[in-house]
Amino acid sequence: MQILRSSSALKRFALLLTLLAPAILAACAPGGDQSTFDSAGPIAKDQENIFIFIFWLAVVVFVVVEAALIYSIFRFRQTRPDAEMPTQTHGNFKLEIAWTIAPVFVLVAIAVPTVTLIFDHEKGPVDGRVPENPLEINAVAHQWWFEFEYPGQDVITANELHIPIDRAVRVSLDSDDVIHSFWVPKLAGKVDMIPGDDNVMFIQADRVGTFIGQCAEFCGEAHANMRFRVVSHEPDDYEDWLDSMRRAPAPIVDNPLAEAGRTLFAQNCSTCHSTRTYEPLRAQGEREVQLGRQTLFRKAVKRDEEGIKTREGDLVTLISAPNLTHLAARQTFAAGIIELTEENLKKWIRDPDDIKQGNRMKDLAPIYNDPALWLSDEEVDQLAAYLMTLKPGPEEAVETAGTVEVDPIAQGREVFLNNGCSACHSTGADRVVGPGLSGLADKSSTDMIRESITDPGAVVTDGFPDGVMPGNFGSVISDNDLNALIQYLETLK
Ligand code: CUA
Repeated sequence: MQILRSSSALKRFALLLTLLAPAILAACAPGGDQSTFDSAGPIAKDQENIFIFIFWLAVVVFVVVEAALIYSIFRFRQTRPDAEMPTQTHGNFKLEIAWTIAPVFVLVAIAVPTVTLIFDHEKGPVDGRVPENPLEINAVAHQWWFEFEYPGQDVITANELHIPIDRAVRVSLDSDDVIHSFWVPKLAGKVDMIPGDDNVMFIQADRVGTFIGQCAEFCGEAHANMRFRVVSHEPDDYEDWLDSMRRAPAPIVDNPLAEAGRTLFAQNCSTCHSTRTYEPLRAQGEREVQLGRQTLFRKAVKRDEEGIKTREGDLVTLISAPNLTHLAARQTFAAGIIELTEENLKKWIRDPDDIKQGNRMKDLAPIYNDPALWLSDEEVDQLAAYLMTLKPGPEEAVETAGTVEVDPIAQGREVFLNNGCSACHSTGADRVVGPGLSGLADKSSTDMIRESITDPGAVVTDGFPDGVMPGNFGSVISDNDLNALIQYLETLK
């Protein structure tokens, strides 16, 4: 009876395994977007080769052990009910020595190439040689998106890393919050991104393409949707991309929808999202800006007696958020999980949780949490139309920019709208996050206005908390913009 039951259980298990087999084996398909069996560069190729070597070694071990097992089962099986026990080999000295030494050889055979490769890859992609001219990238992980900085190039982007082919890329890995992990299966194995710890890895692509990456360390609610792309180019195309990232978008002309969206963005989105790091000063200050927002967020999150996170007032509207400079030139958004189209942007703005559960924007942004600020369908359309204009403008735009006569007050108003000032300060008397700014010139001298912009901690208006206004405006806007901003502020009645 017992035998019958267990044999039917065995059959059920076998059936289940057969049904699951296609799903399990599909994970190994070389054509898969994240398959490690179709490596696209020397690092991943070395790692693939090690895997294949270990796989065949395991096959040999499997065949030898199974052959011995099957031989023993048939050779020594009980043929008659009254058969005698075969000779017992328990404690056989030669056998004990043999199956102790054999695994040692197997493990040494695995360890020597593996450990050598690990140390080699710390230096560079090939044979432990340090590459002559690696491309340097700083990758910073955030809950739940990736920030990529090109040091010395004044270029910053999010969730889409562009690299040239056939050149080693040295990626310095860091995190602004918890432990994440950087993994592009077709380019290299994964390495952890640890706050305050300088992990480094190399990647290199040997063909043009788009390679999917993802966070490979559980890091919170949206971990599974923390993805990114690596786009590899021919070297010349890569340089073109890099240049384009330093160009301003084309001015918005005859597009009232996008024009209205720009104002909405300045009022509601620009405190957390940068859009202008194509300007060198802003690119240089962006890391500090993101870190500042993250620090404010951390300060604002408190825990109650049960360890549940609670928040404090207005501070919480600030959080490090993906850089949106030239967003419309990207393939995807929302940390690489959805194709970038105007329709998808509208869906995202309407309800980001519908696309990426757990994202901080839905949780924190006043437009989702304050009924007075909820966006109408028309406003959603306006914002999406504006975001679609965020892409590198024509090259000529850069050349003419310096020669056009600009009215300083109009310029100052642009600075006010584009730097997050308008998200916290009204130009009237109402208090938003910070004080209303009307009549500023009557209350303060030009020097005092300048100081409260460049060193906000020095003068804090009574009744407002210290440490809310980011302290880096002085370093991320040019002197020219700062002077224009002050002139504009002095016009507010
Ligand atoms: Cu970041 Cu998982």
